[in-house]
This record gives sequence, C-alpha cells and structure tokens, in this order.
Amino acid sequence: MTTILTEEGSDDLLHRGYSRRQLAYIATAFGVGAIAATGGQPAWASAGIPDAAPSAKVRIGANECWTGPLPPGQAAAAAIISQSNRYAPQDQHGDFIRAVVSVEGVPFDHVATWPGSSDPLSRAVVTYCSPTRGLVTADPTFELAGRTAEWLGAPVKRVPLKADFSHDVKAMLAADPNAGLYYIVTPNNPTGTITPLADIEWLIANKPAGSIVLIDEAYTHFAGVPTASYLATAGKDVIVMRTFSKIFGMAGMRMGYIMTRPDIIGKMMRYDGGMQSFALPLPSLACATASLTATDLIAARRKEMQEARGLALEHLKKRGFSVVPTNANMFMVDWKTRHALEMQTAFRAQSIEIGRSWPIWPTVSRITVGSMDEMKAFNEALDKIWA
Ligand SMILES: Cc1ncc(COP(=O)(O)O)c(C=O)c1O
Repeated sequence: MTTILTEEGSDDLLHRGYSRRQLAYIATAFGVGAIAATGGQPAWASAGIPDAAPSAKVRIGANECWTGPLPPGQAAAAAIISQSNRYAPQDQHGDFIRAVVSVEGVPFDHVATWPGSSDPLSRAVVTYCSPTRGLVTADPTFELAGRTAEWLGAPVKRVPLKADFSHDVKAMLAADPNAGLYYIVTPNNPTGTITPLADIEWLIANKPAGSIVLIDEAYTHFAGVPTASYLATAGKDVIVMRTFSKIFGMAGMRMGYIMTRPDIIGKMMRYDGGMQSFALPLPSLACATASLTATDLIAARRKEMQEARGLALEHLKKRGFSVVPTNANMFMVDWKTRHALEMQTAFRAQSIEIGRSWPIWPTVSRITVGSMDEMKAFNEALDKIWA
C-alpha cells in the first residue's frame, strides 16, 4: 500500500529537521513501514536468518499464541463476513472503541485503532524523534522502535536493564535528557519482566518537555498485573499501546490500539490523515471487540500458559540452566557454554523453532511458551541436544 504524506505532516517533519529525502522514507513507513524499518522483514521474522518457522513442527520462536482467537471472537468474525460488502454495515469501529472504553475506563476520544501495534510504534518514533531528538530504549528489548529511529537518522540510546530485569528509568533519562521518546515495554520482550508503574510515573514526571513516554503493553494480559491505562487519561505525555497479536491469538488478523490524549492521536494521524488507523478489516474488528470483553476466557488462557511455562521452567531448573524470572509467555534461558545461534540450529534440526538472541546476551535464547505438548517437545529436544 502506498501512502502520501499530507501537507501538514510534511511541514511538521521539515520543521523538525528531517530532510526531503527522509520524508520519502517516512511516507513509506506508514502501511508497510514496520516492514521497511526492519530491513524488508516483518517485525516478527527472525533477525538476520531465514525464517524456518513455517516448516517446523513446534513453533515457539515468535511470541505468538499457541492457539487461535478466543471462541467468541472467532464466532463474531465469521458472522460478519457475509456483510462485508459494506465498508461499515453498522458502526463496528465505534463498537470496538466502546469495548475498549468499557474495559480500560478511558474516554472514547482517547482511543485510536491500528492494524497491529507495529504501525503506531514506528509512527510514534516518527512523531516524537528527529535528527535532534533521539530515542531511548532498554537493552534487551523489542527492536522495532530502535530500528525505525536508526533508519530515520535519529540518535538511539540503548540502556541495559537493571539487575532485577526491569527498565532502568533513571539511567534511561540520564542517557539522553533531551530525547523525543522513551520506550518502555512491560512486560518486556524478550525478558517477560515488569517495570513498576511507580518507575514509569517517575519517568513521566521527570522527562523533558515535548517528549513522550511510550508504554508498550503487548504482553500485559499474560501477566495479569495492573496496567498503565490510567496514565493515558491523566493529561500526561504518554501513549499506552496494545496489540491483539499475543494472548488474543490474532497476529495474522492485525489489530491493535493506543490510549492517549486526543491531541497526541491527532499528531500521529497527520502524516496520512488517519488512513491506516481506520483501514481495519471487519472480521478483525469484530473478533477483537468480542475478545476484549471475554475476561474469564482471557484469565483461563493465562492460566494455561502459566502451566505450560511451569513445565519448561521446572525442567530447565532441574538441568541447572539459569532463566530470567518471567511474567509473560516467553522466557530467556542462558546456555552459558553455547551460543544462542548454535542452540537455535540444534533445535531446528529437531523441527523445533525457538526464538532469537540479543547482541547484549549472545548465549541467551528467547523461548516462547507454546501449548503443554509443545513445551514437552521442547524439554525432550533439549535432553537430546544436551545429552
Ligand atoms: C513488545 C512488542 N510490541 C509490538 C509488537 C508488534 O506486534 P504487532 O504489530 O503484531 O502488534 C511486538 C511483536 O512481537 C512486540 O513484541
């Protein structure tokens, strides 16, 4: 899909120090941008190595859910297909936002929708970073924000996690006291660790004027902890971001949303006039609306994940491996004497696709929690590899 920047969007970018050449890049960043910013690969593909996952019997590498959308979501998506000759048979978009309002307690005008969360993530970087105002992220963390900033020529600071694996907000502010965007992922990808809301509140209170704190809660339902939604309504410079690609099992349906002040939504929309935000397939909207309010089913899925995760963690512990204490559907295991890439290849030989590693921890692999059977297969494969 090609998108063209609006005049207002172009003026804003030029005013903030982007060149005309960079504008052309940015124009392509919306719609296909998440892909362009990762060097031609979608955000979920393994970095630098051919994606072997589709042929693997067990796919525990990409932080997807092990199973499809919740039953009420599947039923709602199927039911709307016959009416999809209309752009909007009824007010499906409004229905979705009303569902967000009822679950999150945020006002209607504080919600904007997107096909997944990669677009608003890259877009927030475009909106708040520039050649003179950089990005600060944790290390290790989800790489897309950093890649987008680098691709645009904005400075990037990567700050190691604290000893308890939460984001080191004080060090993040000190790393660039005049950054445009501070990116917090909680639970963090790849560690699954939580950054306390008190630390995030501190960062919001102390960050420089004109900057934003982006709180990425992609995995929050797997943790079941209090969320940052309330910060989105407190008039602060904060964006809280969600995706349906994780516990809701909808990665291929592309649904996500942000919660933030209406003027911030306006800023993010001005590059393409809301084009991407509103271009959502009806089955995805209907599925997300029905899923978001299925509180009991969400809790049951979280419990299922915790049990499967427990099985793998117990096995790793027995074998003496060290694992970062996690709150989400992934864990980081340190092989210590073997490189993560070597372990990925060894698992692949057994048709098990595990996750990647991060340069800061080269002997540590990210494993996504799959079904109980998949985690049994992981344990058995590990025993063979490490025999
Ligand atoms: C922390 C985090 N944010 C955002 C995304 C983007 O995913 P999507 O575009 O499917 O919402 C991912 C994907 O793995 C992620 O881990």
